[in-house]
This record gives sequence, structure tokens and C-alpha cells, in this order.
Amino acid sequence: MSYYNIAVIEGDGIGPEITGAAMEVLRAVGEKFNLRFNFNKVLAGGRAIDEVGVPLPEESIRACLESDSVLLGAVGGPKWDSLPGHLRPEKALLGIRKELGLYANIRPARLLEELKSACPLREEIADAGFDMVIVRELTGGMYFSESGRRNGSNGHEAFDTECYSEMEIRRIGVIAFQLAMTRGKKLVSIDKANVLESSRLWRETMHGLAKEYPQVEYSDMLVDNASMQLIRDPKQFDVVVTSNMFGDILSDEASQITGSIGLLPSASLGETKRGMYEPIHGSAPDIAGQDRANPIAAILSAAMMLRMSFNQEAAADHVEAAVSGVLASGYRTADIAPPGTEAVSCSRMIELIIEEISK
Ligand code: IPM
Ligand code: MG
Repeated sequence: MSYYNIAVIEGDGIGPEITGAAMEVLRAVGEKFNLRFNFNKVLAGGRAIDEVGVPLPEESIRACLESDSVLLGAVGGPKWDSLPGHLRPEKALLGIRKELGLYANIRPARLLEELKSACPLREEIADAGFDMVIVRELTGGMYFSESGRRNGSNGHEAFDTECYSEMEIRRIGVIAFQLAMTRGKKLVSIDKANVLESSRLWRETMHGLAKEYPQVEYSDMLVDNASMQLIRDPKQFDVVVTSNMFGDILSDEASQITGSIGLLPSASLGETKRGMYEPIHGSAPDIAGQDRANPIAAILSAAMMLRMSFNQEAAADHVEAAVSGVLASGYRTADIAPPGTEAVSCSRMIELIIEEISK
């Protein structure tokens, strides 16, 4: 029997519903594979602001650091939108990433056979299919470099800067090259080296690494071109590596062309086995508490945790197969149900997946 301590940040909006789904699924798959999970609920995000006045209490950071991994629902919502920057729910997310040293964000975007009709791209592009992973740098760049307000020659102004060290670029590059080695052995690094100095250092460093991974077919792409290529010919991509800011934008684009942002999981990793796992989608406050959310992204995030943090490959495969099985049987939550068809509720979808897991 293996035991795991998981810190669970339910967060805001649909967060509690979908993390609940992930916990139920972990319990069910644990029965089958002799794994036991101890879930420790940790306060962060909008709810933490309401209850204790800050988005990320010290105690929550400690609880995450003491866990084997962190499962997160989603944070944020209109209720907290007018708070100053340092008190916004999003600050909790950035704080955990930094405090836990989670510099590598892994965001797979794959077009599932069963959902081709939901892909917004032209039919022949959807038919060709795609299966890529975006590796986004997560603790550097514009999100964490010098920023502020000051009085300039034109009066009051604000600035955000982009700073990357060679060390930061190298370590995210290593993750991307290693991932490429386990997949299609193709890596595209995305930057804006025709304009930005930080991108030129990014590119030089990636080129240095490419020499250490001669089996990987490496290329560079400028970010504006990349945003176009993603919708023109997504099949060309296998592994993509990019900065925090560009990765934020491109991963939303990549998720949207799968037609199913409610299905996509993500992992944030650092030097240790401890990771944070969360859906790519947000807290969807408009449907919170209505039993209409799609729990699949959270469930697949739990599968990623099993695989990447706990080395429980078979259990992870089993969860993913159960999700595919339920989708193949035609069940859809409202976000992915074709117009005019009947959707299942969040709780029904969870039941179906658990039935499939326990078969
Ligand atoms: C994401 C989100 C976050 C980010 C926000 C909520 C801070 O958009 O995880 O992509 O920008 O990293
Ligand atoms: Mg984002």
C-alpha cells in the first residue's frame, strides 16, 4: 500500500465541485491500485480573502510544502476584481508557484477523436488532428520581474519588465528537451528574438541545449508567427517551450482549438517530485453551484499527478481510459455537448467515470 498526502485548494466558483470530483476519482482508483490518499483542504484565493483577509495565508504555503502534491480547482471571480494587485485571488496562484519553486508548467493540448466536431478550425485541419504539449516557464519573466509606477516625463506611468537569467532558461529548456525525447522528438521554442533582448538570450541558451540533444529536431519560432501557425497547422507541433507571458497566451489559444477547455489538465513542477495540478480553465463563477461544470479537466489533472509526481503510471492510464470510455459512449457536459443534444450534469459525469473506473 502507498500513502500520499495531498493538499487540496478548492478555490472559488466551480473549484469545490471539480476538486471534489478529482478526490472521488482518486479514492476510486486507489481502491483498485492499493493507493491511499489523505486530503488536506487548504485555504487560498478569493475565499481566503473573505475569511482571513489575504489571498495566500502563510499557513497555506506551509501545508502545501508539507504535502506530496497539490490539487487546485481554480481561483478568482468578479467579486474580488476591484481589489489592488497584491490582494487579488490570482496572487495566491503566483505565490504558490514561486514558494514551491514550480518553474515548469506542462499544458497538453490534444484534439480527442470523439470531439473533433467541437474543434473550431476548418474540417480538414481538425481531421488531421493534433497532439502537443506546451511547456511554459512559470516563475520568471514579466510576471516576476521589476514593475511599478513612477513619475516620468509624461507624468504618471507604469512599467513591467521581462528579465530571464540563463539559469532559468536552461532549466525550463532541459524539461522541454527531455519531454520531447519521450514523445515525437520535436521541439519548437517560441520567443520574440527580433525585438527583445531577453528573447535573444532565451534563443542562444536553447541553441546551446539543442547541441546536447541531437536526437531532438529543434527549431525557433517568433511568437506572432506561432500564434498564427497554431490555428493554421496545429499538427506541426509536438513539444513547445516558451516564456511565462507568451505561454500564458499561447496555451489559451491551444486549449481553445481542442474545442474543450473543460477537458484540459495541467501540471506545475519544480526540482522535487511535488507538483501542483489544476485544470487549465478558470473558476467559471457564472455556473458555480449549479452542477453544470465539466469535472474532466480536474479529473485528468489528478491522473497527471498520479503519473508525474507519484510514478503511478498504471493508475493514471486507468483514469484516462475511464474518461475516454465515458466520452466514447457519448456522454457530454453542457460545455462540450453539440447544440440540440442533451447534456449530463457534473455529478452524473463523475458517477459515470467512477463506474467505469470500478468496472
Ligand atoms: C493561468 C492563469 C494565471 C496566469 C492567472 C490566473 C494568474 O491565466 O494559469 O494561465 O496568468 O498564469
Ligand atoms: Mg492563463
